[in-house]
Amino acid sequence: MTAPTNTQSHACPGAGAANEGCPMSQMAAGFDPFDAPYQGDPAEALRWSREQLPVFYSEKLGYWIVSRYDDIKAVFSDNILFSPRNALEKITPATPEAMEVLRSYGYAMNRTMVNEDEPAHMERRRALMEHFMPENLEARQEMIRELTREKVDAFIDTGRADLVDEMLYEVPLMVALHFLGVPEDEIATLRTFSLAHSVNTWGKPSPEKQLQVAHDVGRFWQYAGQVIEKMRADPDGQGWMHYTIRKNEEIPEVVTDSYVHSMMMAIIVAAHETTSLASANMFKTLLTHRDAWHDICADPSLIPNAVEECLRYSGSIVAWRRETTGPARVGGVDLPEGAKLLIVQASGNQDERHFEGGDTFDIYRDNAVDHLTFGYGGHQCMGKNIGRMEMRIFLEEISRRLPHLRLAEQEFTYVPSISFRGPDHLWVEWDPAQNPERADPALARARQRFAVGAPARRDIARIIRVTQARREADGILGLTLEDARGRPLPRWSAGAHVELCVDGYDRKYSLCGRPDAAGYDVAILREEDGRGGSAHIHDAVREGMELKLRGPHNLFPLDEDAARHVLVAGGIGITPIIAMADRLKALGRDYEVHYCGRERSAMAFADRLEADHAGRAGVYPADEGARADLAGLVAGLQAGSHVYACGPARMIDALEALMAGRPDCTLHFEYFAARGAGLDPEKETAFDVELTDSNLTLRVAADRTLLETVEAAGIDLASDCCEGLCGSCEVRVLEGEIDHRDMVLTRTERAGNRRMMACCSRSANGKPIKLAL
Ligand code: FES
Repeated sequence: MTAPTNTQSHACPGAGAANEGCPMSQMAAGFDPFDAPYQGDPAEALRWSREQLPVFYSEKLGYWIVSRYDDIKAVFSDNILFSPRNALEKITPATPEAMEVLRSYGYAMNRTMVNEDEPAHMERRRALMEHFMPENLEARQEMIRELTREKVDAFIDTGRADLVDEMLYEVPLMVALHFLGVPEDEIATLRTFSLAHSVNTWGKPSPEKQLQVAHDVGRFWQYAGQVIEKMRADPDGQGWMHYTIRKNEEIPEVVTDSYVHSMMMAIIVAAHETTSLASANMFKTLLTHRDAWHDICADPSLIPNAVEECLRYSGSIVAWRRETTGPARVGGVDLPEGAKLLIVQASGNQDERHFEGGDTFDIYRDNAVDHLTFGYGGHQCMGKNIGRMEMRIFLEEISRRLPHLRLAEQEFTYVPSISFRGPDHLWVEWDPAQNPERADPALARARQRFAVGAPARRDIARIIRVTQARREADGILGLTLEDARGRPLPRWSAGAHVELCVDGYDRKYSLCGRPDAAGYDVAILREEDGRGGSAHIHDAVREGMELKLRGPHNLFPLDEDAARHVLVAGGIGITPIIAMADRLKALGRDYEVHYCGRERSAMAFADRLEADHAGRAGVYPADEGARADLAGLVAGLQAGSHVYACGPARMIDALEALMAGRPDCTLHFEYFAARGAGLDPEKETAFDVELTDSNLTLRVAADRTLLETVEAAGIDLASDCCEGLCGSCEVRVLEGEIDHRDMVLTRTERAGNRRMMACCSRSANGKPIKLAL
């Protein structure tokens, strides 16, 4: 399945005088990230922006705010045009008095991994990355578990605890210090220092508070220097900071003295503050969404994805900063060189364009792992897998030992910050008499092991029940699916699909019912010459059965703001198209819909289409001698029309060729089957691929895809269909000729040779290719 995306331009990105009458400009002018709405719920506070003005200038802040998922990811992806150099700038400028205090401590914070430009950043990152690799983290699970158990043991019989003070702050700090090899003797002092550094960089301290913070930051700077000196005296010491100090001695031109001192201070904060806050957010979210909490208590295998969904829905890093090094265009808005950007991950993480029903919490969401809380690209959080590991263990220990835990009545408070978010305290209660380990002491020491790294998409699915199975047309089975426990299913938008998992067959089907219906409707064509999935579903699935389902996802989204829509369906391609027609009708938009098929009796929804969309629908069964005139249809398009087509390859190819002559209109298409039959190692050629961002050259063997090769090297690359249909695994091509085997790129894009799909496309001639990855 595929959905080429178009960028949209926006008329009033700024809040200047020229735009005074525009309500969006007034929203932009009123935006203040230190106000209650953003501090309370940053994603909700920017909903208006995601919907209508995704990039705007905030005069109060002096920053351009970026709120949509794709735009944020694009900014993160390009470290050259969008420099990280302002990531640790003080958002509230220091008063002269505070500066003087800092100077008195010799404070000289310099670049760190977080705010360093290329090429220095990548060189250092590569030199210092080894400790963060999944195989080197595995052994730390035991230490995290023991620290967690000690804390839980201390409060399990009390019936009431502040999870932040009694566990979630200290354990991540101890894990961080252990990982770094820093002595654990100053836990309380480090908490004060760490908070001061955070307020100093991302907060809004009053002038009086600035003085106190400056003293704490200064002392933190000196403390970091003393710890480094102690560590230098122990050349065989264990931990990442010892390793960094040894690298400083080995390659001082890459890992400099000033870098080591600055990094020491920054990493202590980065390594635990983010995990502490994220863990507090996680428990608050799960204890508020009781269905999800109960599901996790009953089935701990749900924990890895629940953690990702918590990071998506309520992560601890809500925004980050970048600065343009030249003129740039983001979300259709032109930005000058030197523009400062606040890219709000919390908003992108709830963007409906990427996450169906993005503002709802759903631990069965199988693309939760796409969240931007860890950033993306060359500066992605190096400690992400340690953070995940800690959060999983916290959740597993508490949900097993205290399944009857509930949130206590309380007023939540947060430290004001543009970037970091998590409650200062999290009071929980339970009845100790109900602790399950009182009846079964073995429960206290039970455990679940989780593989290090992101959860695999294939392990995530919800259970649904088939509440109706019916014949929609000849050879087409219609199913209505509802949540097996009677809960509401997630919202979906026109063009979305789900993946049905039946006896080892995982197959994607577009949703074709009305979005307000309680269940999901799909229509499945029996393909006798297919790979067996549809025939098996026809033969095996019956009403009342429970099945697994992934999604919904929308890779074929409707641009609802287009001037005019023309919808074209061929055969079973009617399924997303009829949902689009229903949506456009509900919105009162201008549209027309054309539906072609071989025989009327095999054309599902033909009658419904004609009845519901009378005057706008054309149905063309070939057995009645009817033919859609695609050439005439394209010739007659109004300028600015968007054409959405789903059907067989020959229909899409014909439309693509015709639309090449209509650059004033846009074609969006979705195939319902891949063209190829996968790799044939006998016919394939191996080739080399150079990954410039990772500084790696890999050999793609004849029996492996580029995607498999990259994943085996430990590099995160999103993927979904693995058949060249969805566009998730797109990578930027820097050099080389590509044999494009996907069904995502248009002819022009293929000819341009700047993008490729890693799951299926290869080097065209066996020669090396170079990718920005
Ligand atoms: Fe879907 Fe590659 S195109 S994963």
